[in-house]
Amino acid sequence: MGASAPAYRIMKNEVREKFIARFGREPSCIGCAPGRLEILGNHTDYNQGTVLSVAVDRYILFAAAPTEGTLCTLADADFGEDKQFDIGNFGPHVKGDWSGYVKGMVLALRKRGVDVPAFNAVLRGNVPLSAGMSSSAALEMSVGLALCSLAGKELPWLEMAKAGQECENTYIGANTGLLDQFSSLRGKADCLIYSDFRTLETSTIAMPAGYAFVVINSMVKHFLTNEYNDRRVGCQKALEHIAKRIPGVKALRDVSMAQLEECASGLDAVSYGCAKHVVGEIERVAAGIACLNSGDIVGFGQLMFQSHESSRLNFKNSCDELDEIVALAKANPLCLGARLSGGGFGGISVHLVKAGDANAYAKTIVEQYRRKTGATLQDIICVPSDGAALI
Ligand code: GLA
Repeated sequence: MGASAPAYRIMKNEVREKFIARFGREPSCIGCAPGRLEILGNHTDYNQGTVLSVAVDRYILFAAAPTEGTLCTLADADFGEDKQFDIGNFGPHVKGDWSGYVKGMVLALRKRGVDVPAFNAVLRGNVPLSAGMSSSAALEMSVGLALCSLAGKELPWLEMAKAGQECENTYIGANTGLLDQFSSLRGKADCLIYSDFRTLETSTIAMPAGYAFVVINSMVKHFLTNEYNDRRVGCQKALEHIAKRIPGVKALRDVSMAQLEECASGLDAVSYGCAKHVVGEIERVAAGIACLNSGDIVGFGQLMFQSHESSRLNFKNSCDELDEIVALAKANPLCLGARLSGGGFGGISVHLVKAGDANAYAKTIVEQYRRKTGATLQDIICVPSDGAALI
């Protein structure tokens, strides 16, 4: 992982010490995986679309070692809460139980020929939970790397990403795409990740020099099950409607805005809004890349504002708190662009500013919001960082 990321080194010592204190031995391995910010391309991943994202210097670490018998013990270094389960026999996921992500990964890895032994583990993280920064995917990827290491097997990165998605889809019950796992695995220091969810390939684009992403967390917790799954249904309905009318359309990726308008009649308003957002977002990712290539950072920021507006009006995955934060951002001359990031329905917003302005900007937004509403927001200045690894 990048030399520029000392944050996880301190956490590595903490997780190792906790493991020794709890289990009386050194861990055999430590998986470390970052959270991510979605920069442009909202809800496009499961529509075979494209996304710009970054992995950030916020991590989940999972230290593990094999143990005798079949009972696994998981200790959480942050909450001091132990979880135990039998590796050969665990029931369905219980809502809100974080050990479900570990169990779901055990199942998904087994399906890929990874014979996971019984293990003890300690978990430690500083990715905000249920906030749209992919704490779940960071947990899955850190667990995946550690458990593969215990089993003496390496998985290609794409298989690891798919194992994480399968854990979410089939064990946890969230019908999410591959964006979070891709971002956590494919991050590169000082770079944006461009992911194409049709070809399942990624590449990196240098972060514009002198700029930074500030996260302002609305503190509205989001849970990506019901509403997220509903939006997927909206996208699917729109796709079926359009595919009947335009030959060759296999995914919303294939639909232009003009084609969507051509097919709008007979399409219910909710599904139309979903499709309009997704088609617009895929266009904005292409426009965003052109802006980055030509050094048009102002243009890039405008696309971020447009993306938020489309979330608010078309996809309806924003909330009053996020809208208020983005309104404050728009009114602030230091901000080039801001939008909700990730699933939505709460969680974080991401703001593009000059690196030298980041601290002052974040404090201003938090203070203005406090004065207006009385509520306290969390701000994080994020450094685009390398992807998941054993450390
Ligand atoms: C969540 C999901 C991703 C993606 C985003 C929205 O983070 O896990 O797969 O759909 O929402 O872009």
